[in-house]
Amino acid sequence: MSANGEYQTSYDPPKDLQAQAHVNSLDEYKRMYDQSLKDPEAFWGKIAEDFYWKKKWDVIEKHNIDTSKGPVSIEWFLGAQTNLAYNAVDRHVEAGMGDRVAFFWEGNDVDQSRTVTYKQLQDQVCQVANFLLSKGVKKGSDVTIYLPMIPELPATMLACARIGAVHSVVFAGFSAESLAGRIEDSRPSVVVTTSGVKRGAKPIELKKIVDEALALPGTDSVTTVLVYDHSIALPRNKVAFTEGRDVWWQDVVPGQPTEAPIEWVDAEHPSFKLYTSGSTGKPKGVLHTTAGYMVGAATTFKYVFDHRASDVYWCTADCGWITGHSYVTYGPLFNAASQVVFEGVPTYPDAGRCWDIVDKYNVSLFYTAPTAIRSLMAAGDEFVTRSKRSSLRVLGTVGEPINPEAWRWYNEVVGGGRAAIVDTWWQTETGAHMITPLPGAIPAKPGSATLPFFGVEPAILDESGKEVEGPGQGYLVVKRSWPSMLRTIAGDHARFEQTYFNVYKGYYFTGDGARRDEDGYIWILGRVDDVINVSGHRIGTAEVESALVGHHLCAEAAVVPVEHAIKGQVIYAFVTLYGDATYPPPEETRKALIAQVRKAIGPIATPDVIHWAPSLPKTRSGKIMRRILRKIASREEDQLGDISTLADPSVVETLLSLRGK
Ligand code: WT7
Repeated sequence: MSANGEYQTSYDPPKDLQAQAHVNSLDEYKRMYDQSLKDPEAFWGKIAEDFYWKKKWDVIEKHNIDTSKGPVSIEWFLGAQTNLAYNAVDRHVEAGMGDRVAFFWEGNDVDQSRTVTYKQLQDQVCQVANFLLSKGVKKGSDVTIYLPMIPELPATMLACARIGAVHSVVFAGFSAESLAGRIEDSRPSVVVTTSGVKRGAKPIELKKIVDEALALPGTDSVTTVLVYDHSIALPRNKVAFTEGRDVWWQDVVPGQPTEAPIEWVDAEHPSFKLYTSGSTGKPKGVLHTTAGYMVGAATTFKYVFDHRASDVYWCTADCGWITGHSYVTYGPLFNAASQVVFEGVPTYPDAGRCWDIVDKYNVSLFYTAPTAIRSLMAAGDEFVTRSKRSSLRVLGTVGEPINPEAWRWYNEVVGGGRAAIVDTWWQTETGAHMITPLPGAIPAKPGSATLPFFGVEPAILDESGKEVEGPGQGYLVVKRSWPSMLRTIAGDHARFEQTYFNVYKGYYFTGDGARRDEDGYIWILGRVDDVINVSGHRIGTAEVESALVGHHLCAEAAVVPVEHAIKGQVIYAFVTLYGDATYPPPEETRKALIAQVRKAIGPIATPDVIHWAPSLPKTRSGKIMRRILRKIASREEDQLGDISTLADPSVVETLLSLRGK
């Protein structure tokens, strides 16, 4: 707080950082940004020179995102051939950086750590690639990865990329049913997992979850399960083993040759699928490709974290999410970064773990989510101040809007006022940062993602689809393609066009609301569709509803988001039971329904509240009025607005009488 009691609203880049930054003034940012839009060929062509291309491109970019002009298609670096794994690993080894540390692995427990150099990573990537080849995996094959945050996770992703296989990493916190659904959609022959993992004090039997998934229908494509014996979490003699299908990593990978062929693939060859929730239906397989993704992930990493060779970088995200793809596996390695890979959770063994790790490895660039920042903030400053943290230069945040209190705490307590905060807005679909400060160039405002990255042309539309010029708010859209953008939804191009390009013709629709202020800064307001952002993770209301009605007692369910001090949003479910149930039903019913959601999706989708609803507020045409449910869930029933369109307005009174029951 300043002397007159007001909070500072704008923060200039720290002077030391700015003096050496890749982009060191707002003017320089603007010059580069303008060029990136006016002459994308020159701008991206120059950046792309930094990578290895087996064959150079003929055309930088070609796209149609206007469905009224024909099918949506997006292509970057047409005619080029390259390989992601070669650019992430081999290129650096060949340039003499083989001894450089790629990963400082820090296990769940404080005494567990190991180091992997670029040369060691290259060897391991080749060994895994050779194993996959020996099992018939080839260019274009799908591989499902269900691993915790051990170095073998990025290594397996890179092994797929090396041979042109398409990886689908499933976060190892999703349930057997979720995993099975993703396997059914991409039909891999190989699944890679571990015996188990410990997250904090909690052991999780990952192999057992894979076994359960593979017992479900639709998963018969899988003929091999490669199991890393993560004995410090769960030794292999505690794990069930299916002869002929299961193989222990330690038995079959280390014996493979440390050289493997590289599959040079076309620029638009698929690199990975990552399943994410939408407002309707099942999770969709967002498909990313090769050259544009590479250039996008690498360039944002370099500029947004202002990365240089002497940095130690650490992103707390799991590779099961896009943040772990672009900012653990790919972006940092394309830049030959040294990074911490952390298996555990920020609060184990206590809330000082992150800052102890920062001191242990002299982390200079740190990247996490607002939910983690808020929970550490709630634990008390003493967990932070027991560490020095003098190495920190850039502090990043991602996943949901960050409230100004948490932003200031991150800046002042964690960063000691010496580091720059970068609030990075982007999505699974965008592949890389879209709206974000550059730490040496763009003054930050707490709560704003600030200005667009190079090549990104955002706009804000009003209800009628008209662009809002100057200050104002509405729907956040993007006006042209950018290199790392998704290319389709795997197996469902129609859904891709429908979801992202048919909402407003000629624009990519983000699903977020946003406000632009008088300085042109963008403030993300959150989702405008039926997606709930729990601790930075996207959960579709439709998915939770379908999990609930999957239980034999549940006739109907309606799920809405409610604001939460630490998690950002939580899941609030209104549930109608079958037949002549009495309300409230016995406590076991609530437990059974919650267990059902955890089984169908995973613990991250656990509803915070189940609110019994003998009936739901509906219009005469039978449409659930979610607006009313949101108000009731948020205890704002004094602002219900017009309820006269309800088929039966008395439903509201009944709902209110059952609150907390
Ligand atoms: C949604 C995308 C991108 C990696 C993590 C989440 C929200 C993301 C921010 C931010 C405000 C943010 C948006 C977006 N979001 N970053 N800095 N400020 N909101 O990826 O699961 O694809 O979710 O997360 O609502 O649409 P995701």
